[in-house]
This record gives sequence, structure tokens and C-alpha cells, in this order.
Amino acid sequence: MISVSNKAMSAYKGDCLAILLIQPENGDVPSLPQEYLAHLSLPWQAGDFKAEAGQSFLVYTPELNCQRLLFVGLGSEPDRDGIRQAGGTIAMASAKKKLTQLAIAWQEQSLTSSDIGECVVEGVRLGSYTFDKYKTSNDTPAVSLKKITLYPASGNGPCRKGAALAEVAARSANMARDMANEPGNKWTPEEFSVQGRSLGQNRLTCTVLTEREMSRLKMGGILGVNQGSSQPPRMVVLEYHCPKKNAETLLLVGKGLTFDAGGISLKPSAGMEDMKYDMCGGAAVMAAMAAVGEEAPKNVNVVGIVPAAENMPSSTAIKPGDIITTYGGKTVEVINTDAEGRLILADALAYGIEKFSPAGVIDLATLTGAVIVGLGHHRCGLLSNDDALTAKVEQAGEQSGELVWRLPLGKEYTKQLKSQVADLKNIGGKAAGTITAAAFLQEFVGDTPWVHLDIAGTAWGFTEKSYVPAKGPSGFGARLLIELIRTW
Ligand code: BES
Ligand code: MN
Ligand code: ZN
Repeated sequence: MISVSNKAMSAYKGDCLAILLIQPENGDVPSLPQEYLAHLSLPWQAGDFKAEAGQSFLVYTPELNCQRLLFVGLGSEPDRDGIRQAGGTIAMASAKKKLTQLAIAWQEQSLTSSDIGECVVEGVRLGSYTFDKYKTSNDTPAVSLKKITLYPASGNGPCRKGAALAEVAARSANMARDMANEPGNKWTPEEFSVQGRSLGQNRLTCTVLTEREMSRLKMGGILGVNQGSSQPPRMVVLEYHCPKKNAETLLLVGKGLTFDAGGISLKPSAGMEDMKYDMCGGAAVMAAMAAVGEEAPKNVNVVGIVPAAENMPSSTAIKPGDIITTYGGKTVEVINTDAEGRLILADALAYGIEKFSPAGVIDLATLTGAVIVGLGHHRCGLLSNDDALTAKVEQAGEQSGELVWRLPLGKEYTKQLKSQVADLKNIGGKAAGTITAAAFLQEFVGDTPWVHLDIAGTAWGFTEKSYVPAKGPSGFGARLLIELIRTW
């Protein structure tokens, strides 16, 4: 539970009071009430602690109402992500001390109280994430924070609103992490339908296309990719309709490859276990839809589609050289069966655009290893046919701390996909792998404004941050999408 207190923070009686501190330009000790300053000034003078970003300092305070003080540095001009990271630092310290109650206070600064309330709570919730459901030994059972009390410098009302936004966004992102953490044998395509149907109880309609329906619709992309698997594929469609008449529709599509062995173009075994994360785009879309169900946006319809499949080698698997017909009739020569994401997305994009006539489409996919070569683990790749939609997504990325970087598209790249025997081939050669993958998708979106996010570098092993697990899935994309929908 989170509350915003209008009492004096000196009255706070819980396990720990965390104080966010701005580093003063002149290097002086930050100004604080004497009872707190008393604990800060000696370490400050000794040079042991400065209010730099990433620094924190815990003291025991028998003479105060609270048991501990945690000083947390913000640097001299924190932005939203700086506050989020301070929240993550607080979460790590709380977990270490197994705290169940916590207060957070801050001084007046240039960010608004709603920004700080939102970001600090997001940081704490995201930073408290653990996944230990498959550990049977209970040596270190996770202790969770029960009660968080906020003491903003001013603006209690906005702070409360910010904190409420954060609770929804962080819960969604943690839900995406939960899905991604499930291994391939537990999280099969059918699990996406189970999840979808359970979300379908909250203001969303859920429809699941089974293999038979996909055959009837001639979705040769997802059927071809999945044909080597004993697990049936699924196409999960979640719809939210807002109260406003004639509102625009935003379509979200997420790659839900529950395991990508590469198929007949088998991947090397080293690191192949990470390919259970090849459904992170789908997880982000499901998680964003969960938030849509909770927040019920007033003026935009949102549809989420997750094509879910498994890419396995077997005697029934699709083979290099095979030609498939995707939804809508375009034919594709499959040169490399490991370039499977674009095949399932082709069906989902073409189907979603035809069925829902969206004003904009965003797809998220762990699509290419090449995006890691280009951008590392710090930003995802963005490729788009529309500058206005790109600007919106870039802005949502900045606000959420899930950063994007645009790469170009163009006919030179599309030309790399020319096939001798079909409309297209599914790979464009060694050069510009991330761009040719997106150029392939572009063939299926027509003129609809579309943004593709290649999250292969950020969905796990994301850039080091206190509120993101160092190993395992980050939930990347869920909060960006939520921000985009909130500001649509
Ligand atoms: N899921 C992978 C992309 C991937 C690779 C994500 C490494 C994260 C880490 C995708 O299906 C794939 O295998 N892409 C191939 C495309 C190639 C065959 C053109 C790749 O990137 O190697
Ligand atoms: Mn692959
Ligand atoms: Zn893949």
C-alpha cells in the first residue's frame, strides 16, 4: 500500500526513512532539518558520502521515531530516470534489510511532485522484483514491502496521482517479466491464451485463433514457423473499446516465440537457453493491455495481438527453400528458418490492420541479433514509415526510461529481399540485418503509420540500472506502451 502523508516526516515510525538528496552545486552539505543533518554532516565532511547519483548511505537512528535513515543521492540535476534509479537503490537496500515498511521524503526540486512520486514508486516496485517460484529451498524467502509512505516537499495531490500511475505501470512491467521468466516448457503458446483470457475479464475482449482458424484464414507465416513443433500455435487478440465514438484505434503486436531453436537452420547450443525470452515482445503487449484494462483510456481504442509459436527442428519443420503464403496472399521464400519472427509478425500485422483499420501500429519483437551489434543493450532499434508516430514513441521512450534509436528504411534495403521464385525472401543477407528485417515487415503494413521496435538487445541483459534485474528479462516496452497510450 502506498500513501502520501500530510504529517511531518519526523513523526514517521516505520523501519526506515529514505531521504532523496540533491547534490548542491557548491559542494555544501544539503540543507536538512537538524535531526537528519546530524547524521549526514560527519560522513559528508569526511568525504565518505556525496549526493551523487547511485550513492546511498544507511544509518541507525535510535533517537528518532524511525529506526533507520537511508540517504540517497540524486546528483545535481536528476531527471525522471534518475529518480527511478534512486527508487531502485531504495528497493535494493530494503530487500537487504528485509524491510516491510518504508517512507520516502524529498526536497523541493525542478521535477514536479507528480513526476517524483511516479518515478520513485516505479523504481521501488520494479527494483523489488524477484522470480523464485521454481526454487524449492526456502533459505532466503523474499520479504516484500507492505507499506510505503511518501513525504513530498509539496503537492500531495499530484504526488498521489503519480504514485497511482506508477503502481499500474510497474505491476504491468513485472507481469511481463514473470511471463518471460517462465521457461519454454512451462510457457507455451497456449499460455498466452490462458493469460489473454484472464485479462479478458477486465474490460477487454479476448479472442484466440487456434490452428484450425489460422488455416482457414490462410496464415501461412505462423503455421509454417510452428509446423515443426508438437505445441499448437495461437494468435491472441485483446480488444479494448473506449467510450468515445469514432475514436482512433492503436494496434499493438508482440512477437510471442515461446522458444526459438532456429528450426532446421538450428542455432548453436551455447546460449540457446536465452531463446525462451523470444516472447518478450508478446509479453510487453500483454502487459500493456493489462494496464489498458485497468485504466480504461477515454479516447483511444487499443488492440493487442500476440502471434505465439515455437520454432523447432523436426521432420515436419519448414525447410530452407520452402515457399509459404502469408495472410493476404504474399508469398515468401524461406531461406533461413531462424528468421522466423518476421514470418509470424507478417500474418499478425496484415490481419490486425485489415480487421481493425488502426490509426497507428506498434510492433515489438526480439527480432535480430544485429540490433545488439548496432545499439548494444542501452536502446532498442526503432524503424518506421511515419515521422509523427516515431516522435510520439520517442517521447514515450524518454518519459519511461525505455529509450529508442531510429534506423533508416528505404528501397535499397527492401531490394535485398528480392526472391527469384517468390514475392520476397525472408532474409536480406549479412549487411544491415536489423533494417532488412524491418523492411520485410514494412511489406505487410501498407500505408498505415507503423513503428517497429527491435528489442533483442533490451528485453534481457538491459543496460545496468538499479531497478532492472542484472540478469533475466527487463519487461522492456511495457511501460513505453503504457506511456504512449496515456498520452495518445
Ligand atoms: N530471436 C532471434 C533474434 C535474437 C538473436 C534475439 C539473439 C536475441 C538475441 C531471431 O529469430 C533470429 O534468429 N534472427 C536471426 C536472423 C538471421 C537468420 C537473418 C539473427 O539475428 O541471427
Ligand atoms: Mn530465430
Ligand atoms: Zn526469434
